[in-house]
Amino acid sequence: MAKQLYIETVGCQMNMLDSELVVASLRHQGYELVDNPQQADTILFNTCSVRQHAEDKIYSALGRLKHAKKHNPHKIIGVLGCMAQKDQKLIFERAPYVDLIVGPGQLHQIPQLLNEIAAGSGPRMEVSLDRTAGSRELVERSFESYDPLRDEQMRPSPYQAFVRIMIGCDKFCTYCIVPKVRGPEQSRPASHIVAEVRKLAAEGCREITLLGQTVNSYRHTADGHTTRLSDLLALLHDVPGLERIKFVTNYPKDMTPDLLQAVRDLPRCSHYLHVPAQSGSNAVLRRMKRGYSVEDYREMLAQIRETIPDAAVTSDFIVGFCGETEEEFAASVELLREGRFKNSFIFKYSPRTGTKSDELYADDVPEETKRRRNQELLELQTAISEEDNQAFLGREVRILVEGLSKSARKLEAETDLVQLTGRTNCDRITVFEGNRRLIGQFLPVTIYDANAFTLFGTVVTRHVGPEVYAL
Ligand code: 5AD
Ligand code: SF4
Repeated sequence: MAKQLYIETVGCQMNMLDSELVVASLRHQGYELVDNPQQADTILFNTCSVRQHAEDKIYSALGRLKHAKKHNPHKIIGVLGCMAQKDQKLIFERAPYVDLIVGPGQLHQIPQLLNEIAAGSGPRMEVSLDRTAGSRELVERSFESYDPLRDEQMRPSPYQAFVRIMIGCDKFCTYCIVPKVRGPEQSRPASHIVAEVRKLAAEGCREITLLGQTVNSYRHTADGHTTRLSDLLALLHDVPGLERIKFVTNYPKDMTPDLLQAVRDLPRCSHYLHVPAQSGSNAVLRRMKRGYSVEDYREMLAQIRETIPDAAVTSDFIVGFCGETEEEFAASVELLREGRFKNSFIFKYSPRTGTKSDELYADDVPEETKRRRNQELLELQTAISEEDNQAFLGREVRILVEGLSKSARKLEAETDLVQLTGRTNCDRITVFEGNRRLIGQFLPVTIYDANAFTLFGTVVTRHVGPEVYAL
């Protein structure tokens, strides 16, 4: 009988892609994916270390497996990803029944390691070198980009795919664990990315999202020729079948004019730009070592708006960073108000062992204050999002239909006419009624209602030339 695999993934889109690729490689080895851990012979957790909360969730999930393992000692339990790289052997100490620990730079080894464990090798751990453990070249080599051939069957949607264009990060913002656990910044060769996207598009993929921790820092040199993200967008733009290209996450200082012009001039590029500000206070930005001032960030926003007037810009903010005063927090409120972001993710500062801020500064903003500041920013952002979405009433947008809406999925309706969900060119979630056969298509939709998070519309039926849109 096929071995049954259960995998739980937390964290960013990079982790979602990693899990997809790990599952694909294990399916090639005869594993079958199941959605119930009780049924599984192998249980994997792909983990995140960005905030304490994400780690706590994994440790308590591991805790719940203690009895299952006692009951069935042949069950294999594995911890993958950022927390595996960060905590390493500590995971064996906290959960001695874990069999496998694999860092994000070693994922290619998983099939082999699982075989060895099944054959009785005992617990196994494969992690990359610490960033201070050797020369840059040596450390780079220990973080291997994991991009095996894509398995069409394994993508969450046949019409959309994530594509990694770089790994790691060299920015070393003082609060952030990513440069430590995901290693040095390394861009993939443009030719590999183009080949991967061609394959995806040939399989019917209409939209790709290029991934990198600082995706706009992408830079790859081969045969004396350097490719920047703007050049890569141009190379990918005319891949047959591809209709939409997105990229996340951007670093404010690398938002260069050539990139903005590429997004403006290449019609398949989504007008959606996620460029985290983190704070609106220069003193806090300095303590965070973000490498720009709030004036630089404002100037960057102005350039985006000038070059791509309809761009939807989104941001991340951290509240309650070490020493953040009321005035410093007020500066974030001001930037969020002025920035008119489509959306912002707001996080309470969470000290991470092994980062500079944890070493240098006290986590001295009380939890209660962090919560209040979080709430205040969130409320302001929600009001802005709602106002901006209202501006869409009566307008026609172009949607890639992604699938059934959340409520339609709950209903498990079997009718053809269902509630569908998709996104506009600037990444706004749009819900409308239509035939399920429309999934995977691009459609014009007219918006009749909106709240802070969703646009509601009706499909436009039009009889122009041979193209007929019908429900
Ligand atoms: N505490 C809180 N938020 C953090 N982020 C990164 N590190 C931390 C931390 N230690 C946030 C940043 C980043 C997002 C992915 O997570 O806002 O942009
Ligand atoms: Fe972390 Fe800063 Fe790198 Fe983003 S740019 S991954 S916040 S170190």
